[in-house]
Amino acid sequence: MQENGVDLASSIVLLLGAGGAGRSIALSIAEQARGLVILNRDYEKARRLELDLKKKFPKNIIGKPLSSDSIKKYLKESDVLINSTNVGMEPNQNQSIIDSSLLTSNLTVMDIVYNPVETKLLISAKEVGSKVINGVDMLIHQGASSFELWTGKKAPIEVMKQAALKQLSSGAVN
Ligand SMILES: NC(=O)c1ccc[n+]([C@@H]2O[C@H](COP(=O)([O-])OP(=O)(O)OC[C@H]3O[C@@H](n4cnc5c(N)ncnc54)[C@H](OP(=O)(O)O)[C@@H]3O)[C@@H](O)[C@H]2O)c1
Repeated sequence: MQENGVDLASSIVLLLGAGGAGRSIALSIAEQARGLVILNRDYEKARRLELDLKKKFPKNIIGKPLSSDSIKKYLKESDVLINSTNVGMEPNQNQSIIDSSLLTSNLTVMDIVYNPVETKLLISAKEVGSKVINGVDMLIHQGASSFELWTGKKAPIEVMKQAALKQLSSGAVN
């Protein structure tokens, strides 16, 4: 987000998904953003995450069930949309978590799915002029953090990124 010039402090973020990756993203976003809405298919997980985060961050955090109505309602009030669900991931790359007619140019849209690198959601977002961020940057940075913790050495981020993109574009990753 920072590398892509997103000002989280002034942003309301709509996060779709509250699985393993969604929870870790929610923690970081709750720390930095103006507000966070979490929508998950299994409402219990969204509600639990909302309550866990509110213990630490006394700000605007909401957890609701994921539905076409809830996406429509909360997307209107959001500056950043993050997909942390599996929807759109290989072999279901023809699926998108939201209807493309809801996307607008003033949104930043991030999809953490990295295979394919450009998901159906990101293709639609690009078409309407949204700023888009794919899942490769997150993949690289979480790998770089692990590398640095394990080895004590600085991670060669650009080398890692080029290697990941090469593998992903060759179809070797499933
Ligand atoms: N870029 C990166 O560095 C990075 C890192 C980690 C993961 N990822 C990607 O992120 C995605 C999620 O990974 P995860 O580890 O968080 O998986 P996970 O713990 O299994 O969570 C999956 C999430 O997707 C939701 N979901 C699955 N199918 C859905 C559907 N048809 N409709 C609506 N929601 C659906 C689940 O909702 P329910 O709770 O209702 O089942 C849950 O919120 C994967 O595509 C993974 O490759 C990327």
